[in-house]
Amino acid sequence: MKILVLGSAAGGGFPQWNCNCPVCRAARANDGGARARTQSSIAASADGERWVLFNASPDLRQQINDNPALHPRQGARHSPISTVVLTNADVDHVAGLLTLRESQPLALYANERVHGALGANPIFGVLNPDFVTRRPLPLAGEVELRDRDGAGIGLSVEAFTVPGKIALYLEDESAGADANFGTAEGDTIGLCVRQQDSGAAFFYIPGCAGLTPQLEARLKGARLVLFDGTLYEDEEMVSGGLSHKTGHRMGHISMSGPKGTMAAFADLDVQRRVFIHINNSNPALLEHSRERAEIERGGWEIAMDGQEIEI
Ligand code: MLT
Ligand code: MN
Ligand code: ZN
Repeated sequence: MKILVLGSAAGGGFPQWNCNCPVCRAARANDGGARARTQSSIAASADGERWVLFNASPDLRQQINDNPALHPRQGARHSPISTVVLTNADVDHVAGLLTLRESQPLALYANERVHGALGANPIFGVLNPDFVTRRPLPLAGEVELRDRDGAGIGLSVEAFTVPGKIALYLEDESAGADANFGTAEGDTIGLCVRQQDSGAAFFYIPGCAGLTPQLEARLKGARLVLFDGTLYEDEEMVSGGLSHKTGHRMGHISMSGPKGTMAAFADLDVQRRVFIHINNSNPALLEHSRERAEIERGGWEIAMDGQEIEI
């Protein structure tokens, strides 16, 4: 299976249009130590011909243009992207669906919570139902991914709930923090993506607020995990004067600290650990930073746009 990192940054991208933090400033200075990144998405393919898009970022048009594997190859209208799978309804994961209009056959898989959010917003009607079929992604069992016409593409996914939060624009303030602002099961999912013939599999979890014992058991011994790398420290956006919200409030676990991702993975025996969905405030984006050295010492990689992984 081929995996292509289309966008390794979190919402806003890196640098973010209105962000003047030191990390974004370093990216704009283009000094080689902080490479720009687009917003959160990957693609995977069993045969190198038909590709599944995992999340559709606002930068999707650029990501397709930057990756020849996703260019049209035959006839007057064509796309190697046959299937799209969503892990939540966040802007950085669904806005790119608007780029996929133009009457192109696609199958769109998401949990019913996410389909509900899309269905409630008429702008997503630009995905003409004559061409785009919306399919369920239940939180149990393995689902064979198919194209719009029902043909298998050699990949299956298992979706599972992970701690997280409803999309920011759907938060119900009146529900309060105790009810996690109206979050329900299915609002944030993780995926195990498996190639059907070889059995090769990896986990894609771009948003996660913490590791539960069930999630740890699922990940134990995995060959490859692409995991939420939004923040290095829970307080980093607050202390940097960028936001009043902690990572915890945004539904993201942080890389460092005793309750952070690196600590949680310490005994999970995951062969390859890659941070993805990295926020522009995260100093681990700086290639010569203490934080980057720290995560590399912990056996973690920072994903880069255009990175190819084969398993
Ligand atoms: C997140 O990952 O927390 C969201 O993408 C934030 C947002 O929607 O801006
Ligand atoms: Mn996001
Ligand atoms: Zn920034």
